[in-house]
Amino acid sequence: MDGRRSDYAHVVKVACLFALALGAFVLIRWWFLPADFGVHGFYRAGALDDNRARVPVYAGRAACIDCHSDVVESRKGSRHEPIGCESCHGPLAAHASGADETKPQRPDTRATCIRCHAARVGKPAGFPQVDVADHAPEGACTTCHQPHHPAIS
Ligand code: HEC
Ligand code: HEC
Ligand code: HEC
Ligand code: HEC
Repeated sequence: MDGRRSDYAHVVKVACLFALALGAFVLIRWWFLPADFGVHGFYRAGALDDNRARVPVYAGRAACIDCHSDVVESRKGSRHEPIGCESCHGPLAAHASGADETKPQRPDTRATCIRCHAARVGKPAGFPQVDVADHAPEGACTTCHQPHHPAIS
């Protein structure tokens, strides 16, 4: 009898270990899982409200049109016209809503341009790009190009 038990005693030990681990897993999961998890799907239902409560930092270009129609006008027909204002000016929702009275800083007249136009092997050949060191080694790009209508002609 004793001899037979020792034949499978090691299996029982491993099975007990697994059962213990499973029990611990279920207990810890139950303890840490928020109550509203899984109400709508495999996520915390309250996350929807959390996201809804976040204040947007970008206003979208439509928000700039009313007050800065002169800029909108000067961009007409330019290859920069399709670019959103905040791609260069950064997030300005607070400014556009009138909540922030401070005048927004103007974008850097060199670094801003280089960010998009420095020549890179990976860019499509048709995208306007320059070897910055050769094209304009120093100074503002805006001494020659208008940021809202960059073509020179
Ligand atoms: C409710 C009207 C209003 C809206 C909407 C608005 N602005 Fe303005 N903005 C102003 C006013 C007023 C000034 C201050 C002008 C001044 O003092 O010369 C200003 C100043 C600026 C300046 C600084 C101008 C300078 O001379 O240095 C920038 C840049 C600017 N706005 C960009 C934007 C962008 C981009 C948007 C859209 C996200 C936007 N604004 C939306 C009214 C507005
Ligand atoms: C390609 C980048 C770029 C885009 C897109 C862009 N801007 Fe500008 N903007 C600039 C830069 C750079 C300056 C600063 C020029 C300077 O200091 O000489 C500027 C200056 C301004 C100023 C200050 C006054 C002026 O007329 O120079 C306002 C206001 C302004 N932008 C609003 C806008 C609005 C509104 C839009 C979208 C309709 C827009 N910008 C889109 C780069 C951009
Ligand atoms: C957010 C990216 C971005 C920034 C920042 C930006 N550009 Fe552009 N630029 C573009 C795109 C996109 C085009 C048009 C590409 C097309 O039409 O295929 C363009 C076109 C141009 C052209 C060609 C114009 C023409 O009619 O041939 C010039 C010159 C230019 N940009 C200069 C500048 C200068 C100067 C600045 C800084 C004030 C600047 N860009 C900032 C994206 C950018
Ligand atoms: C001394 C004047 C001058 C300065 C400063 C200057 N450019 Fe130019 N840029 C030109 C001229 C001239 C052209 C050719 C005419 C055109 O394409 O409109 C040109 C063309 C371009 C083009 C179009 C290239 C193409 O393949 O269509 C881009 C992009 C450009 N410049 C970006 C810049 C950037 C970014 C800066 C700043 C680092 C800058 N430029 C500074 C004079 C200048």
